[in-house]
Amino acid sequence: MGSHFHGNVHKELVLVSGRSHPQLAADIAKKLRISLLETSIYDFANGEIYVHFKESLRGCDVFVLESHTEPMNKWVMEQLIMVDALKRASAKSITVVCPFLGYSRQDKKHNGREPISARLIFDLFAAAGADRIMSIDLHSAQIQGFFDGPVDHLYAMPILTNYIKRRVDINDVVVVSPDAGRIRVAENWAERFGGCPLAFIHKTRDIFRPNVVKVGRVVGDVIGKDCVITDDLIDTGGTIAGAVKVLYETGAKSVIVAATHGILSAPARERLLECNVTEVVVTNTLPISQEKQFENLTVLSVAPLLAKAIEAVFEAGSVTSLIDDTNL
Ligand code: R5P
Repeated sequence: MGSHFHGNVHKELVLVSGRSHPQLAADIAKKLRISLLETSIYDFANGEIYVHFKESLRGCDVFVLESHTEPMNKWVMEQLIMVDALKRASAKSITVVCPFLGYSRQDKKHNGREPISARLIFDLFAAAGADRIMSIDLHSAQIQGFFDGPVDHLYAMPILTNYIKRRVDINDVVVVSPDAGRIRVAENWAERFGGCPLAFIHKTRDIFRPNVVKVGRVVGDVIGKDCVITDDLIDTGGTIAGAVKVLYETGAKSVIVAATHGILSAPARERLLECNVTEVVVTNTLPISQEKQFENLTVLSVAPLLAKAIEAVFEAGSVTSLIDDTNL
């Protein structure tokens, strides 16, 4: 909890966290120079979740952090229950902070009789009492429109590119989109590398089999180049390992993979180790357990980005300006 005075108006910034990613919560609180709100959370014998906040929240601006890692349904439910408790405790505003938004991959129907779970998740948070949502690298930007209120869509791109710029030959780099759908994002990345060339992988998917990808061919010139693949997430690693393989087959000199969300479900670790990728760079939007880690995996922190965004929302400052922040 942190107190701030604005003229004669006393405002309270409160950060509360569920149990999914305690390290990230602690890192954000440290950056904000506040302590996390003391909270009691436990499971009943049948799995129901109980939440109790130890201090009054009346009139406070509360930020509720939960990372939608496995078991995702539990953490989504826990965050909903925290929001409900905050609403009933008369918090002045409730911002749902989900560094990785679970279910956001399903943001449109590819086929008849399918859900649009990204919309459902936002509807659930709205029903629970959320006033605003903060997230990093949503699966697609238009998901912002699924919530009828402000959505702070943050980008890990400055964090990832600031790091990767030091690992490649800037005169020989090509940004690679792992599929045609992400070319717009890859264009933004290419601008960060001084307007370098782009390539993309022509990829097809079996819409009836989750996580099954057929990698096609490379479109663009990658021969002798340092390739940087950018994706929003790595789940089982099929997309990325396939892309790395086809880039090497086409003549790439090195391949660095950058993805915001390191879900790294099995067998991602094995696939990424086998494909000879130069380096895999992800962020800590999700906790990455010891078993998922490997030597050439680098994990960068989003705590400074989230702390700055929370501060900007609380102080009514600019969140947009964070996209050009070189100190993240
Ligand atoms: C696809 O649209 C996503 O951006 C990722 O490329 C994909 O979901 C990653 O999944 P996996 O690692 O299982 O191939």
